[in-house]
Formats: sequence, structure tokens, C-alpha cells
Amino acid sequence: MACKRGALIVLEGVDKAGKTTQCKKLVQALEMSGRPAEMMRFPDRTTTIGQLISAYLEKKSNLEDHTVHLLFSANRWELVPLMKKKLEQGITLVVDRYAFSGVAFTSAKPGFHLDWCKNPEVGLPKPDLVMFLQLNPLEAAKRGQFGEERYENSDFQKRVQTRFEELRKDTTVNWKVIDASQSVEDVHMNIQDHSLNAINKAQDTNVGVLWQ
Ligand code: TYD
Repeated sequence: MACKRGALIVLEGVDKAGKTTQCKKLVQALEMSGRPAEMMRFPDRTTTIGQLISAYLEKKSNLEDHTVHLLFSANRWELVPLMKKKLEQGITLVVDRYAFSGVAFTSAKPGFHLDWCKNPEVGLPKPDLVMFLQLNPLEAAKRGQFGEERYENSDFQKRVQTRFEELRKDTTVNWKVIDASQSVEDVHMNIQDHSLNAINKAQDTNVGVLWQ
């Protein structure tokens, strides 16, 4: 390897857990300490596929459930060449949601099996670290109402939470559960510690392959 690669770091979590805020803070902190880092998010609503997903989430269009699952997955796959390039250049990627959201959300719908949902995600770059921001429903409710988008209701979110719990039992993925009820600064320090560890470990290894 010409230069030490960057790490692939993913934040997942329940609604209102503060994923986006924490992703931004982590990128800033890494950059300030001289470690190149960039943020990404899924869905990436800027691509052609992303625009289809965005219209679906905003309830401007309806899509069949299997179809939308495959679109979310395709939206990750279309960005894989760019992700690999950046990691090889030594840039750490901090990603807001990834395949785990993909599987947790679709498999929370009636009639969907976890294994079917995982299939299109098999072979994606494997994160070096996945942090799950945990927040109980009472704390989440204190942080405000649900928005207007599809999936933003408490019954569905409870089912999603259960699916995430299933996924977290998988020891082939480096999961860390973060208590998101702490202050923004404390959560950040926690996330930073885990991330620095992952960056150090990742630099002399190849990027892994998810669920293979
Ligand atoms: P996002 O744009 O992260 O919105 P927010 O930050 O408001 O949660 O995610 C949009 C929604 O899409 C969210 O409800 C989770 C869902 N989702 C899937 O159903 N499948 C996926 O693969 C991903 C990444 C997200």
C-alpha cells in the first residue's frame, strides 16, 4: 500500500440520537488533529437513484417495497468506487447510516426476512467500526416530534430498533454501542476514542468485505 489507508467509520442509531451532529464533529476533530477525513451519508440524495429515494421518503412517490430496498442498496454500490479511492488516499470516511439502516428499515416491514434484506449488501466495503447511538424512546421524545417523512412514526421505529438489536449480535462486525443520552460533548469524546483506535488499526490492513 502506497500510503496508510483511511478508516471506514459508520454511525447508526435511532431517530433523534444525534448521528448527523456527531458525524460532523468527528470529521472536524479528525481534520484538526491532522487526519484527513470526510463525511458521507446514505441515502445520498444527490444522485439519480438518490433522487428516486428522496421522492419516496418525502411521500411524493410510491415504490414497491422490494424495489425501494434495492434502490437504497444500489445507492451505496454506486458510491463504492469513490469510497475505495478515498480510503486508499488515506482519507477516513465518516458515514451517516449504511447497510445496517438498509437492513433494519426494510426488515421492519411485514414479510421481509433479515437474510433477504442483507443479500444485496453483501460485498460492500466493510466498516472498520460501526457505532450505534443508543437512546431510549422517552429521551428521544424529549428531543422533539417526528418529522413528516416516511418511517417517522414510533411504532415503525420500535420495530427498526429490534432489527438493529438483531444485527448487533453479529460479531463479524465491529459494533460499539454509545450512550447517546450524555451531553453532545461527552458523546463526541466517546466516539472520538473509538474512532482513533479504529483508524490506527485500519491503516496497515486492507478494507474488509461486508457479510462475506
Ligand atoms: P436520512 O436521510 O438519514 O434522514 P434522517 O437523518 O432524518 O433519519 O434517512 C432517511 C430515511 O431512510 C430514514 O428513515 C432511514 C431510511 N433508510 C432506509 O430505509 N434504508 C437505507 O438503506 C437507509 C440508508 C436509510
